[in-house]
Amino acid sequence: MASTLLIFLFTLLIKGYGQCELKDITVGTERTSRQIEGKQEWNVSFINTCKCPQQGLTVSCNGFQTVEKVDPNIFAPVANNNCIVNGAQPIAPFATVQFLYAWDPPFIFVPVSSQVNC
Ligand SMILES: *[C@@H]1O[C@H](CO)[C@@H](O)[C@H](O)[C@H]1NC(C)=O
Repeated sequence: MASTLLIFLFTLLIKGYGQCELKDITVGTERTSRQIEGKQEWNVSFINTCKCPQQGLTVSCNGFQTVEKVDPNIFAPVANNNCIVNGAQPIAPFATVQFLYAWDPPFIFVPVSSQVNC
């Protein structure tokens, strides 16, 4: 009986984790119509495509540069050549966190970690 309950709980746990993964963060970069100090401006979107909130999203950003000031509450460098998105605050299900920067060429941000709150 107890072991059945354990297996049930374990399955729930696995399912809970299985509902959302880091790959459920989509990163999009769109060219805007602006240039700043001669650099192309880009609109970066981090989209949580999962039904659970995800927080503490970090992405690799080694070598990232911008001539446009970026709000550190949205995107800021942290340790290990990573950057933290949304001030580590939860990104709601299907919500987008977006920021603008200006540099040539555009930078490819790769998600490194996030905490899923299912
Ligand atoms: C950036 O992209 C988001 C999502 O596609 C859009 O809602 C927003 O209007 C864009 N902002 C600019 C300045 O292009």
